[in-house]
Amino acid sequence: MSRGKIDRDEISVLLKENGGFLSGTAIASRLGVTRTAVWKAIRLLKKDGYVIESSPAKGYRLRLSPDLCIPDLRKILSPGSIMGREILFFESVSSTNTVAMEMAAQGCAEGTIVIAETQTTGKGRLGRSWISPAGKNLYMSIVLRPAMSPRDATALTLLSAVACASAIRHSSSVAVTIKWPNDIIVGDRKLGGILTEIKADMDRITHAVVGIGINVNLALADMPDEIAVIATSIINQTGEPSSRTELAGEVIREFDKWYGLLKTKGKQVIIDEWLAMSSTIGKQVLVSAGKVHLKGSAEGIDDEGLLILKLADGTYRKVSAGDVTIARTRE
Ligand code: BTN
Repeated sequence: MSRGKIDRDEISVLLKENGGFLSGTAIASRLGVTRTAVWKAIRLLKKDGYVIESSPAKGYRLRLSPDLCIPDLRKILSPGSIMGREILFFESVSSTNTVAMEMAAQGCAEGTIVIAETQTTGKGRLGRSWISPAGKNLYMSIVLRPAMSPRDATALTLLSAVACASAIRHSSSVAVTIKWPNDIIVGDRKLGGILTEIKADMDRITHAVVGIGINVNLALADMPDEIAVIATSIINQTGEPSSRTELAGEVIREFDKWYGLLKTKGKQVIIDEWLAMSSTIGKQVLVSAGKVHLKGSAEGIDDEGLLILKLADGTYRKVSAGDVTIARTRE
């Protein structure tokens, strides 16, 4: 008996593999569904941004996939990858982190990924919001179940920054660096950010969610004014749109690699790579945390990821949270 409902991914994969026109009847019989189900799925695919040509005589032909295409993303991930073994896509969510935390609490597998086209209440660090317009950027959260103490949770954030920065460097010509603790920046403008949330007992993390936001195809002109003065995007840097699917794939691949290294080699490998990609260490900085402002030289990070500051009087202070402004050096 034919199914009355069909997963959109099945049709998009079939049309892509076929290349040319396929009739509604042929699709229906290949997938064991009714022609009405095919027609409904095609209509939904078009709404998702797929450009599909329809001809009464020849059927359907896929002309263009959206630049964030989950079936393609699944295909580019290696079969052994823990990250992305389960990918959930939403057109619109409150926050991918909130959804991922709920799923983690319900027992979903480590490596489950939640991706959305838009977030209605995207969350940033320090209680800020993360503006999340549709169709342009990457909003993605990864569920982790690391066997580690909450004291070591910052390693996950450092790891995520390393994975994102490496992925952007590999998949574009943008020379991003990391600003402590986890801003992905170009020069002094922010291109991406990471928000880690954890659920833990006294001595053990039950689950963690790493939320990644990267500005990809959003032009400065389309950002709210207050964001446009401090942010940038990949398109703003390169002048060309880029594939969010490829970027997401690269982030997931890099994440899988560095998470594996954290497990097998420990956190020092992550810290070393973070230091190599950081543009904070060695600079004169101002760290602001609420009403507290500290000026000094950023000397390094400790093994918990705290920033080590040398103040003007020669004393050292460790900072656990805040916003860093790097002082401009005189030319
Ligand atoms: C920051 O303030 O730098 C962190 C921003 C993190 C934004 C991402 S977008 C995907 C995930 N879902 C959220 O609500 N926030 C993170």
